[in-house]
Amino acid sequence: MKSIEKIDCAADYIRSRMAERTLDTGIILGSGLGNYANTLTDPIEIPYSEIPGFVTSTAPDHRGILIIGEKEGHGIILMSGRFHYYEGYSMEEIVFPVRVMARLGVKRLIITNAAGAVNADFSAGSLMLVSDHINLSGSNPLIGPNIEELGTRFPDMTNLYDSHLRQTILDKASKCGISLHEGVYTMMSGPSFETPAEIRFIRTIGGDAVGMSSVPEAIAGKHAGMEIVMISALANMAAGITGTPLSGDDVLEASVQMEDAFTKTVDIALNA
Ligand code: HPA
Repeated sequence: MKSIEKIDCAADYIRSRMAERTLDTGIILGSGLGNYANTLTDPIEIPYSEIPGFVTSTAPDHRGILIIGEKEGHGIILMSGRFHYYEGYSMEEIVFPVRVMARLGVKRLIITNAAGAVNADFSAGSLMLVSDHINLSGSNPLIGPNIEELGTRFPDMTNLYDSHLRQTILDKASKCGISLHEGVYTMMSGPSFETPAEIRFIRTIGGDAVGMSSVPEAIAGKHAGMEIVMISALANMAAGITGTPLSGDDVLEASVQMEDAFTKTVDIALNA
């Protein structure tokens, strides 16, 4: 089966489960940020295991459920649980749901993640709106035959995280009293956390935060013509900054604690 046929097969299946709903926004929830899903009304839950072509999430706290719901007049398709490169999935598998969302009519994709703060002026427990990214994963989701039905072979990434949209989000967050940093997200493959030397390298090349996800989805979303917003929950200071060893459990706990500001910020991005 051609890639686009597989994508359309999944899109048809989801359409068959969502009745007459219209979708405009996709949301991908990162580690520890799953509770946002409970804020949607009239949810329809579809386990990934039931959707043709979807793989399953194996990462801790990633539920593996697609939720179709409504919020503030928006038709939302939300991934509670994403796929990571470190789980052993191919880039194509990781971005498959994003491409399905594009075929379902989604115009804006809000990608969220937990990340480590590389910029020493940022503090753990705060949020960062991503202004740009650096892809150090060693791969790219668009490698392979181009899917012409979705987008062009060499898509432009100049204004991937639209500057006007970011300004609107920053202004609204500031009015709501949410401290929202802005900066560059760097993707490493993981699953080992970075070494202090890698963090110094990332800082030198212009990274403000580091994480193990999100960049593939952003590239594939942009390729398919979507508007991309990315929000990082800075769960910890990156390796070597405070000297404290990093743990996945601490990252999850820290993200959960940011729930309130995170929910408000995603809502701002939804309506910006
Ligand atoms: N590094 C990579 N990924 C992360 C981190 C980190 O420090 N914190 C949360 N996700």
